[in-house]
Amino acid sequence: MSPDVSGGAATRPAEIGPTTALCGIVLHPAGHTRSPAMHNAAFAALGIDAVYLAFDVPSAGLGVAIAGARALGVRQLAVSIPHKEAVMAHLDEVDETARRIGAVNTVTRRDGRLVGSNTDWIGVARALETQRSLAGARTVVLGAGGAARAAVHAMLVRGARVVVLNRTLDKARKLADELGAHGAGELGALRSHPCDVIVNATSVGLHEDRSPVDASAIPAGAVVLDAVYSPERTRLLRDAEARGARTIGGKWWLVHQAAEQLRLWTGRDAPLDVMSAAFDRAGARQPT
Ligand code: ATR
Repeated sequence: MSPDVSGGAATRPAEIGPTTALCGIVLHPAGHTRSPAMHNAAFAALGIDAVYLAFDVPSAGLGVAIAGARALGVRQLAVSIPHKEAVMAHLDEVDETARRIGAVNTVTRRDGRLVGSNTDWIGVARALETQRSLAGARTVVLGAGGAARAAVHAMLVRGARVVVLNRTLDKARKLADELGAHGAGELGALRSHPCDVIVNATSVGLHEDRSPVDASAIPAGAVVLDAVYSPERTRLLRDAEARGARTIGGKWWLVHQAAEQLRLWTGRDAPLDVMSAAFDRAGARQPT
């Protein structure tokens, strides 16, 4: 029997039962993921009969894990580091956007088929659009890994002009060429690219109190989004604020990409405030 994903009830059924749908996230290591907290809170708020778990799957076990998910009728899987590229080989279909970005972060079961898609790009677009329109905006994406690819795609889809800056120049050039960005350079070149939006898609700031760019290169009127969500106030965001820029924490990128996952599966709008609060509570429970 299918689970009730259409809503109606104000809260999740009290009991996990025979019709409860299973969803989850595959990643390795799994210790710090806040996705179960966000999704379970959304299920409860929308009255969706489903549970969402974290599956710690090392690379060697990915194929077996996906086959298991298929056999067990798992409804939706989020896919995170290090599986976003490798998972494609195990699916029935990968949509065009995920192919273009080169990464799948969402697998949804549709008529028994496992379909791969990418919601990272829409997460970054929606997080930024809470502050300003991207159409015609001059944007800079810092980094040239998977997160940067999603961010560059988002900027281009929304009609922004985008320059990719990365520590390793060759990688910035390659990404810019492949996706059709408007320019590429090293991180130090921020000063020579006047911009309205900066997205940090490097991992700088995650393990140490450092910013990928000089504070003095951040324009006062810019909107700055940091993919790093822990710590919440990264050095980059503190610098940006001190310069008079508007800032958006990495939490919002994650919340919006998770909201889109829920919409892909259930067709329903996600309760962003509920997911955001669950994200915060999960963070407070974790050692830093
Ligand atoms: P993801 O797929 O999550 O984006 P990734 O592919 O490992 O992760 O990419 C990490 C990004 O952070 C890269 O752009 C990397 O720069 P390089 O391409 O030069 O390696 C950037 N990065 C990581 N550590 C950095 C550091 N200490 N200074 C500057 N950039 C750094």
